[in-house]
Amino acid sequence: MAQPLQRPALGVARFYNFLPEGEFFLGEVLAGLAQPRKILPPKYFYDAHGCALFEQICALPGYYPARAELAIMVEHGAAMAKFLGPGCQLIELGSCSSRNTRILIEQLQPPLYVPIDIEAEMLRSNAAALARLLPWLNINGVCADHTKLLTLPEFVGVPIRRKVVYCPGSAFGNIAVQEAGEFLRFARRTVGLGGALLIGVDLKKDKLTLDAAYNDAAGLTAAFNLNLLERINRELGGDFQLQRFRHRTFYDEDRGRVEMHIESLASQFVHVGGERFKFSQGEMMLTGISCKYSADEFRALAQRSGFAPAQTWTDAVERFSVHGLIAV
Ligand code: AVJ
Repeated sequence: MAQPLQRPALGVARFYNFLPEGEFFLGEVLAGLAQPRKILPPKYFYDAHGCALFEQICALPGYYPARAELAIMVEHGAAMAKFLGPGCQLIELGSCSSRNTRILIEQLQPPLYVPIDIEAEMLRSNAAALARLLPWLNINGVCADHTKLLTLPEFVGVPIRRKVVYCPGSAFGNIAVQEAGEFLRFARRTVGLGGALLIGVDLKKDKLTLDAAYNDAAGLTAAFNLNLLERINRELGGDFQLQRFRHRTFYDEDRGRVEMHIESLASQFVHVGGERFKFSQGEMMLTGISCKYSADEFRALAQRSGFAPAQTWTDAVERFSVHGLIAV
């Protein structure tokens, strides 16, 4: 007897571009350099070279967050899928950590996956890799500034039971504590009543461990940090002289956050986009923060932002946490 023809349902990958028109990278760099205390936005770390460097950082023994989160996903991914339930639209903010996402998607089997990231090429290549591995997956990639409070369209054609915002990779830590509540309320609005949030949060710990995690001896974190200047030189025609700057990163225990800086080693001028900026010797430019929260601190914050904390998963030695919460 002939076998009935069985074809696995094939997923569809679509991409939406919500990036603003014009030179927003240049605009943000100029605005940051014009501040009395100069800053550069960390979301621009992840060009192709930056992503490759970050992958290497994740393989370093001292950079525990990547391994700790992966261990949590391996051990508790099935429990997370059970917690979220079937029929989820999985909305991922800042889609840099594809391994964690893949574990979750394999367990959850969501009818729709919506990765959101500012880097169009990374978004596409990550989505393409996932589509090859999981041909049944429907992907609606959204290229947008994932740090802005965007409003997503309703994606029709796929029946959804629940929206879930997923923030892996402790990307949440890049948001200052004062803005974290606003971000969580945005997540709450996005998923709606009864929706869910699954979020990786790095835990507070001793300064020694944190300083080491962001200052590797191989100099990869330094290269990652300084790549931001190289990217400005490459893409915006800047003239940063790399040897006149250095990577400076430390854990500020009082503020509960790692601060990434670039220090100017000389008194100097730098040009970007036809403008001139003065750096004094020893001047520090903030390029990123990584806020750390105890499990209780995070749950309290989430509770004030419209989420009922339901689950907290941690690794065996409690370095990292993944929280599951329901919008109420
Ligand atoms: C990818 C933003 C989570 O803050 O730990 C790692 C970035 N910077 N080492 C972090 C990073 C230097 C990382 N995040």
